[in-house]
Amino acid sequence: MASDSARGNFGSDLGFVLAAAGSAVGLGNIWKFPYIVGEYGGGAFVLVYLGAVAIIGLPLMYAELVIGQRGQRSPIGAIRALTAGHRLGPLLSWVGGGLAVATPFVIFCFYSVVAGWALHFLALSLGLVEGSGDSARDFAELTSSTTFSIGWLTLFLALSLAVVLGGVREGIERASKVLMPAMFALLLGLLVFVGTTFGLSEAANFLFRPDFSKLSGEAVLEAVGHSFFTLSLGMGIMITYGSYLKEERNIIRDGVAVSILDTTLALMAGMVVFTVVFAMGKESQAGPGLVFVTLPDLFARIPGGTAVAIAFFSMLVFAAWTSTISGIEVLTSSMMDEFKLSRRATTGIVGVSLWLGGVACAVWPAVLDGADQITTNYMLPIGGIFVAVIAGWVLSKQDREAGFAAWGSAGTVPALFWTWATRLVAPIAVAIVLLWKVGVFGG
Ligand code: TRP
Repeated sequence: MASDSARGNFGSDLGFVLAAAGSAVGLGNIWKFPYIVGEYGGGAFVLVYLGAVAIIGLPLMYAELVIGQRGQRSPIGAIRALTAGHRLGPLLSWVGGGLAVATPFVIFCFYSVVAGWALHFLALSLGLVEGSGDSARDFAELTSSTTFSIGWLTLFLALSLAVVLGGVREGIERASKVLMPAMFALLLGLLVFVGTTFGLSEAANFLFRPDFSKLSGEAVLEAVGHSFFTLSLGMGIMITYGSYLKEERNIIRDGVAVSILDTTLALMAGMVVFTVVFAMGKESQAGPGLVFVTLPDLFARIPGGTAVAIAFFSMLVFAAWTSTISGIEVLTSSMMDEFKLSRRATTGIVGVSLWLGGVACAVWPAVLDGADQITTNYMLPIGGIFVAVIAGWVLSKQDREAGFAAWGSAGTVPALFWTWATRLVAPIAVAIVLLWKVGVFGG
């Protein structure tokens, strides 16, 4: 096992869980999850998504954390250290590790633009920016104005870089300990408010009563892709965060906690969004505009709507913020490890590159769309297969089962289950999804 005494680490159990949950919970939960649920017909999609989290997400979450924890390096270095001596080691570390660096970069580019929209709508609800009173128009103006889009994404990038610059404990952990509880409190407050004002039954019906006639093959693909995206898997993030953990740390419990928190918060956000949508007599609307067009319009018409809008968009910004810092940390930490540069220097280089990528997405909508599609549909699943193969087949038994060893003999059976879930179930399921996507099955 490689070790590096200068390496940062998380100071407390709770700090790590909040940081990892902060990475997982993001725009994916609050902006994307409700709109894809709307698009793919509600409860049946939710069920498939939950299945994907359980069968593929959970095993891979442990796989990434254990690679990081045993490798004590960012993705490329961790995989290199743990696969040394294996014939496929160099290939796995460069392709698997390389993908783990490229993916967060591409995700950040479009993510920062959408996070910038969230900042804009927060500013609107705070009255810092003047709106037209018609959110469809505000949204159209925002997305077509490169000055606005670039301005907001620059601010958002600066906020994220400031945290990463602080390091693991003083930056990421400290920010997560404030932002995550605040985010959760806002979400819970919103849920109680809309629940007592409108009642939750219609939204609950929509989200939890499956109508399988609406379930398409495409919905299954989307559910699997989204489970990777939202759990921050297949992109080196959990490897990097795992590398900041001490050896004795129970990563099984942590991985389960993060997955449950992520899923719970997505469902809570879905309940809030659809309760408001249905209460205002709108159809369950699909598309990216759900949160930025439909909701602000509705907020303007409900009692206490301004406060609700401020709460909602603050929550969205907090959620996005704790996610991007994890993506940036993968890049910063990889450069620090590979090139032995200081955190300050790497954060600067990474910041400039991300800004250029973000601007490209802000200026060309096709780039934004393409970046979203290529990561969710291809890069994340391929990254996930690499992780599964590395953790399941290449790691030594001792490394692979490190998390279960702490359980003593009680860990033998769970370890066996996990090993085969990782060796076969997850990669085969993901490979089928990928092949399906590229049309091998005649679609
Ligand atoms: N998990 C985040 C969400 O659900 C998305 C995300 C994953 C992300 N990886 C990222 C965001 C890297 C920024 C950078 O929203």
